[in-house]
Amino acid sequence: MIGVPGTPIAAPLVAMVGGGQLARMTHQAAIALGQTLRVLAAAPDDPAAQVSPDVVVGSHTNLDDLRRVALGADVVTFDHEHVPNELLEKLVAEGVNVAPPPQALVHAQDKLVMRERLAALDAPVPRFAGVSRLDELDRVDAFAGRVGGPIVVKAVRGGYDGRGVRMARDVAQAREAADKFLASGVPVLVEERVEMRRELAALVARSPFGQGAAWPVVQTVQRDGICVEVIAPAPGLDDDVGAEAQQLALRLAAELGVVGVLAVELFETTDGRLLVNELAMRPHNSGHWTMDGARTSQFEQHLRAVLDYPLGDTGATVPVTVMANVLGAPRTPTMTVDERLHHLFARMPEARVHLYGKGERPGRKIGHVNFLGSDDAEVANLRERAALAAHWLSHGQWTDGWEPHG
Ligand SMILES: Nc1ncnc2c1ncn2[C@@H]1O[C@H](COP(=O)(O)OP(=O)(O)O)[C@@H](O)[C@H]1O
Ligand SMILES: [Mg+2]
Repeated sequence: MIGVPGTPIAAPLVAMVGGGQLARMTHQAAIALGQTLRVLAAAPDDPAAQVSPDVVVGSHTNLDDLRRVALGADVVTFDHEHVPNELLEKLVAEGVNVAPPPQALVHAQDKLVMRERLAALDAPVPRFAGVSRLDELDRVDAFAGRVGGPIVVKAVRGGYDGRGVRMARDVAQAREAADKFLASGVPVLVEERVEMRRELAALVARSPFGQGAAWPVVQTVQRDGICVEVIAPAPGLDDDVGAEAQQLALRLAAELGVVGVLAVELFETTDGRLLVNELAMRPHNSGHWTMDGARTSQFEQHLRAVLDYPLGDTGATVPVTVMANVLGAPRTPTMTVDERLHHLFARMPEARVHLYGKGERPGRKIGHVNFLGSDDAEVANLRERAALAAHWLSHGQWTDGWEPHG
């Protein structure tokens, strides 16, 4: 083939629903592939809308806005799971290539559908029960009786960062939580509170061609239901358990027909078993370390997968990477982010910083930092430095009392 000199390369057009940090970082990966990510953003100053010139401002619950972002795109994909599934079915019926397809995505949208399907696929899950209507509230008591220990109540839809999750002290509190969700029209999943060593995540990607690729299994650390830290690979993870987690994630990706990145959130129980907590079908917080610590980042891989390109090498480039989220402080510091960054680099020039261009609000994910180690014995030190850096960036305070001019 002979191209016309001077014409830009004919890049495929990927449209992403949602203008958050995941879309922003996917656009960053798209640039390297000669592409521009089109985004459907709720507002022109959303993190991805700030950086992509191809922005449709609109709502992910409005069919016409979804049609506008899909127009002329090779594929439509997501930075969150909140698009009503029936709207996606309509787009598919109109000929739009939606990745992951709605019949796969529903397992990341509805925790009860997900649990029932996983159980049918013989994937290990915590004991659970579904409560869909207010007149079924007695099921909470019956389930609690069967479990005989503490239970967790979850909204099946719409929750993230722990917002739809209630750890119940007793049955009365569980009923109350379920009652609230149900009264607002959201069905409920009740499940046993799992006694665990830690949480893990298995991140994989799958293309329509059927290729699959798995990154090393990571440990995730949650505080108040929000991910605060990720360690890649999960320290001291038994090789067999790691391989089992990767195989499970690849099998689920294939069985559910996932296209793109799939994150499988896992509990490692105190007796050493793995249980699947939930699924996400998009780039995921547990994969932010791949931006600096893996040969192919999850954002590039997601693009490759939805475009049915061959997938990239998921190997780690260093023995250990620690990621810490930068979460908005209770009170926004008077020192500007620019000044905080300046000081961070003065103390820790090795910090790999990713900021999302978001306004600071308490607990809000506004960025993350990656620290790379050349020896896995460095884990404790990397964790300490990553935590110091993330806290500094959000609070403008060094928790170890460091004085730059001291
Ligand atoms: N059954 C459970 N037992 C113990 N902890 C749980 C359980 N379910 C959720 N959690 C804790 O709450 C966090 C958020 O729950 P999750 O279902 O993943 O909701 P979200 O959609 O907000 O991420 C989990 O990462 C875990 O720390
Ligand atoms: Mg979760």
